[in-house]
Amino acid sequence: MYSAPDRVTLPRNSDGVFTEIAGTYDLINKILSFGQEQNWRRRAIAKLPPGRLLDLGSGTGAALPVLGEFEVVGLDPEAAMLSISPIRQKVVGYGERLPFPDGSFDAVFSAYVFRNLTSVDETLAEIGRVLRPGGKAAIVDLGRPRNQWLARIHRLGSALVLPTIGTLVGSRDSYSYLHRSLDKLAPPEELYADGPLAVESVWRMGVFGFVYGAILVNE
Ligand SMILES: C[S@@+](CC[C@H](N)C(=O)[O-])C[C@H]1O[C@@H](n2cnc3c(N)ncnc32)[C@H](O)[C@@H]1O
Repeated sequence: MYSAPDRVTLPRNSDGVFTEIAGTYDLINKILSFGQEQNWRRRAIAKLPPGRLLDLGSGTGAALPVLGEFEVVGLDPEAAMLSISPIRQKVVGYGERLPFPDGSFDAVFSAYVFRNLTSVDETLAEIGRVLRPGGKAAIVDLGRPRNQWLARIHRLGSALVLPTIGTLVGSRDSYSYLHRSLDKLAPPEELYADGPLAVESVWRMGVFGFVYGAILVNE
């Protein structure tokens, strides 16, 4: 029988950030993405097989309106985010230690979560474990443009814009964290290449391609 760990054994890079910004998260996300963040989710979700879906790091449940016919289970470590989520089946937990049996999902969806994880490797292994054979995961996240010069311009922009927005909404440290998190992981084309799941496709979206989508398959 699988049991979830307690908070003490799994400290997180983003500890406290999402509790602090839970109330303003959805609005700020819409502004920062020029209203595109739901389209970016929708494009990835359209590539998933139907059935039971785990929304990993579901937060406020912002993806629910575009999850259509899926039977959705939302998982997030932040009770503050889950408490305002309209998803009916909600579980407090971590991507690194999923409290679900093997092969219990047809699909996993995770948007804007991966750069906040404590361990991408452990989370990918867990996604592979809970997906049925042939099941697919769709990951959407923010990073930097592939082109070095565009990445520099983008870095400068986020260094100015995110802390300023943070100051305006009274959460400067949390939004500064979001700026730093954009440089944390390797580009998706490398990040998922040698993992436990096969890469079906990776695509870029948003200004200069700083947003990516990836479909991974449990072969
Ligand atoms: C930027 S929010 C995205 C929320 C939602 N997926 C969306 O599309 O709006 C990131 C979420 O990841 C969650 N998170 C952070 N560390 C996590 C972990 N180790 N496992 C699962 N979720 C995590 C945070 O609590 C937060 O709700």
